[in-house]
Amino acid sequence: MEPIQVGLLGIGTVGSGTFEVLARNQEEIRRRAGCGIEITMVADLDVARARTLVGNRTQVVADAREVIANPAIDIVVELIGGYGIARTLVMEAIAAGKHVVTANKALLAVHGSEIFAAAREKGVMVAFEAAVAGGIPIIKALREGLTANRIEWIAGIINGTTNFILSEMRDKGLDFAEALAEAQRLGYAEADPTFDIEGVDAAHKATLMSAIAFGIPVQFDHAHIEGITGLQAVDIRYAEQLGYRIKLLGITRRRESGIELRVHPTLVPSKRLIANVEGAMNAVMVQADAVGTTLYYGKGAGSEPTASAVIADLVDIARLHTAAPGNRVPHLAFQPDELHATPVLSIAEVVTAFYLRLRVVDQKGVLAAITQILADGDISIDAVLQRESEEGESQTDLIILTHETVEGRMRAALTTMQALPTVIEPIVSLRKEELA
Ligand code: HSE
Repeated sequence: MEPIQVGLLGIGTVGSGTFEVLARNQEEIRRRAGCGIEITMVADLDVARARTLVGNRTQVVADAREVIANPAIDIVVELIGGYGIARTLVMEAIAAGKHVVTANKALLAVHGSEIFAAAREKGVMVAFEAAVAGGIPIIKALREGLTANRIEWIAGIINGTTNFILSEMRDKGLDFAEALAEAQRLGYAEADPTFDIEGVDAAHKATLMSAIAFGIPVQFDHAHIEGITGLQAVDIRYAEQLGYRIKLLGITRRRESGIELRVHPTLVPSKRLIANVEGAMNAVMVQADAVGTTLYYGKGAGSEPTASAVIADLVDIARLHTAAPGNRVPHLAFQPDELHATPVLSIAEVVTAFYLRLRVVDQKGVLAAITQILADGDISIDAVLQRESEEGESQTDLIILTHETVEGRMRAALTTMQALPTVIEPIVSLRKEELA
């Protein structure tokens, strides 16, 4: 069979890894795909640099539209990123009848519905394994491997930068700012790390997993997003004393009334495997009715790990492009006319447990008043820890772990607690998930 011809839009870290791995494992990949897969054209604004990466046998152009217009190109790989020009080029590639492979989670989480609809219309595939958790084949697992199951929830460490920062804070007792500086020094964090540390990158990925797991459209605008910028080292220490680690989790869960979709720092029992995922690694835990719990672990970023996912998509397309569109795996795992408009729940409707840290005056009746407010809110306490006061100290930290409650109730209770004259600093509240 004729080799399938691929055009790359952008040859940065992932693009050069894709080129390298395809060349190195060419023969194995051909034996799996049933035909050769060749990158015959690359578009990059830095033509000279691109040429040094790909050699003479690949055509290098500055204008991505030349790749899209080339009738010999079967698959366009978009590695530009962002919602701007990448969106235009992906839509143009689809309109030109090209299959698309992309690592662009931001684009698909925000504009996925439009992109998948256009692809269906043209009978082409849009594949995005590299968009979620880099080299971990989580899209494949959710969409195909777990297809027999009713998926109940997914909880993932899906941003390596923030996991690295949290690991540094815990290991070395660093503050957030110090750990971020270390991540930047080592090249984990971007010069502008906003999307990572504010939880936006993780929310893009959680949005995609949620759609595939539950058969709903992508709904990034309904995701609840909190990053790690406000996290304090002291809470990491208290959590540890209580048997928990704090991880930035992307969580999506099916409830009777709708779907939870949220990203926030979360206390996870230290004994869970996922709590022990350290440094820049990623891991995704999936709870499903037939298989039970499964856990997927690996590198969520980097040149060759991400290239591994891009090439897996290229092989899938090489195998399936001659199949009738109706016989291919649907973009979002469920047949497009079977997606349900199940609502994403507001954060007030989410059910979760809590860690609370209150700075209180150390005098009698303070704990009783606080526990009464929780009882009035129908919130059950799981554990209480009071730091022993130093000699002569008149204040102390009170740490409370609760059982699960509806978040709206907790917010009301927090407002009442905060108004007590004996509570002297803003209360810290973090969500806690047992992931049992
Ligand atoms: N910036 C991401 C991370 C990798 O830190 O995991 C790309 O999504």
